[in-house]
Amino acid sequence: MPMSGDAPFDAVRERLREVRHLLVLSGAGMSAESGIPTFRDARVTAPSAPAAPIPQGERAASGWPSGVAGLWSRFDPAQLASVEGFRADPARVWDWYAERRDGVRRAQPNAGHRALAEFARRRPGVLMVVSQNVDDLHQRAGNADTIRLHGDLLADRWLERCPRLPSCDPGEAEPGRPPSCGRCGNLVRPDVVWFGETLPDTAFEAAQRAASACEVALIVGTSGAVWPAAGLAARARRAGALVVIVNPNDSEIDDQAHAVLHATAAQALPRLLDG
Ligand code: OAD
Repeated sequence: MPMSGDAPFDAVRERLREVRHLLVLSGAGMSAESGIPTFRDARVTAPSAPAAPIPQGERAASGWPSGVAGLWSRFDPAQLASVEGFRADPARVWDWYAERRDGVRRAQPNAGHRALAEFARRRPGVLMVVSQNVDDLHQRAGNADTIRLHGDLLADRWLERCPRLPSCDPGEAEPGRPPSCGRCGNLVRPDVVWFGETLPDTAFEAAQRAASACEVALIVGTSGAVWPAAGLAARARRAGALVVIVNPNDSEIDDQAHAVLHATAAQALPRLLDG
């Protein structure tokens, strides 16, 4: 049930003061206030941005347009986030990820990331952050042990498994769009999970364990549209956790939550976790 007013915030805040195992599952909305676009929003929600309308094409500090629609409203995921799309036009995909990488490098952690890192410093061993985000803002804020479910935008890997032992290093590939192996022609691709690919086993197993073991699951800034990550909310609930969603909009997993807090990550997390 969606909640408004101070009472639900305060109740969750009280619960978090005593929590011994806290899972935070973050999605693209977590980084929206850092200027990184989400995937499925009609318009990126970033209330910390200037209230005045932002002229079309004006860029936020990160280099990404402000107040624009999510990536999958403007770009075709079949072309840009699948092996088939990469094989069809490697340069197009490489260039698109190069632009996203630039945006992420220029972005800074926001108050939500910082509140999580500060909580982890104050309460060691309590928080596990599991992120669908391929940026490194949780890590740069201080949550170095964040579990990444969908890979790392800033890392490379080979498109095909390298036949050599030890395998060639993608960092030593010959420059190009994309870089390629001088010996066998293997192409370098971004180390992110594309549609149709499975999640990294170790990361997903660790995330499942954290969901089963947590007392509170805070689900922040995700539409809940992408599985299996979205299923972690239900897993936590089945295991007896208090499930709390932080999102300015409705999500597809609101029915799994005991409380839905309609607020942004940078608004809600400092208030929920400070002190
Ligand atoms: P989506 O774009 O699907 O959803 C973003 C969610 O963030 C929406 O529910 C918004 O309402 C919410 N939101 C927007 N601004 C917010 C803010 N300031 N604070 C809190 N919430 C806010 O992004 P994800 O759910 O992360 O996959 O998408 C899941 C996966 O789909 C992504 O990891 C990506 C994509 O394809 C890969 O990169 C592999």
